[in-house]
Amino acid sequence: MQAVHAIRFGDPTALELVTDLPDPTPGPGEVAIDVSHSAVGLIDLFFRQGRYQDRPGMPQPPFVPGLEVAGTVRALGDGVTGLSVGEQVVAMSSGSGTGGYASVYIAKAPLTVSIEGRGIDPALAVSVIPNAAMAHVALTQVAHLVAGGSVLVHGALGGLSAGFPGVAKQLGASRVVGTVLPGKLAAGRATKLPYDRIVDSTDLHRALGDEKFDVVIDPVGGTLRTSSFDVMAPGSRLIAAGNASDDWGHQVDTNQLWFRSITVSGYNAGAFLPTHPEFVPAALAAAIEATAAGLAETDVDVLPFSQAVTAHRRMESRDVKGRIVLTPEA
Ligand SMILES: NC(=O)c1ccc[n+]([C@@H]2O[C@H](COP(=O)([O-])OP(=O)(O)OC[C@H]3O[C@@H](n4cnc5c(N)ncnc54)[C@H](OP(=O)(O)O)[C@@H]3O)[C@@H](O)[C@H]2O)c1
Repeated sequence: MQAVHAIRFGDPTALELVTDLPDPTPGPGEVAIDVSHSAVGLIDLFFRQGRYQDRPGMPQPPFVPGLEVAGTVRALGDGVTGLSVGEQVVAMSSGSGTGGYASVYIAKAPLTVSIEGRGIDPALAVSVIPNAAMAHVALTQVAHLVAGGSVLVHGALGGLSAGFPGVAKQLGASRVVGTVLPGKLAAGRATKLPYDRIVDSTDLHRALGDEKFDVVIDPVGGTLRTSSFDVMAPGSRLIAAGNASDDWGHQVDTNQLWFRSITVSGYNAGAFLPTHPEFVPAALAAAIEATAAGLAETDVDVLPFSQAVTAHRRMESRDVKGRIVLTPEA
């Protein structure tokens, strides 16, 4: 098989295409997938840069980045039922958070879902179905969104965020507003994602006036996390779901939570889903329904594996309107 390796920690040139690797075979409970598309996420860049290199279990070079793929079932491991060879599928990370930028991916069967016959483009499928499934779990199990509730999504066009508006609408949200930096307002106005409105994240009070939200989804962090408190209704929940701002020092004043009667919770699918696998099937089903219904039409750019360096450079310089996905070389 072919795969893009991160051969060292460092800049995007650490990514190299290798074309003569042995094909892996699935173990019990696993599915081998002939990959057509591999999603590129910010976490892949963090791993490649070596940010988490000292944490136990984090990938060490050489490793294959990528944790979400679309493709067709190549082979089934012992005990796997409900999938057939040749069927179109999408798979989410199996825990290690690596292995995706490869022409063959070994997925865990419970994290692999069929999209056969659903009419979903595989590039779009890998871009949104895993994130929409993560969004479903976050909204139902952590944010406790109820029908009629309102939702604010920061970094609205980003990979993870794009999974939220469609699922929130499915769950009965009355209103879903997205925030972006000023440079992305035009892209926000053009997006087909089902936001009711896209606003400037740099001055929430000016953009939103007295509007208050029941749920805030925040994969951005930094000062945006705490400025969000001004637009949260009493009893509302902010979900800290990432740190795209790269601000690792920002603190939350817990007395503000008390004064305003609001909640800040964390949600990391990599930690939550392995310990709560019972929520995965419904989340994947909801994600597929939302995508098939056109509620997750994010922008997707497709590049070959040989341009993985370009893909990571573009992510680093934030030259992406939605998602980048990679495809194996012909
Ligand atoms: N909780 C989970 O289970 C989970 C799952 C997946 C990812 N994540 C985390 O979520 C975060 C985003 O990942 P991703 O793959 O979605 O990345 P992404 O596609 O690059 O999206 C990040 C978004 O955040 C915006 N952003 C970055 N810095 C900002 C700032 N200072 N102020 C306002 N907006 C800012 C970006 O806007 P521009 O387009 O203007 O740059 C972009 O829209 C990462 O920290 C990742 O580790 C968490």
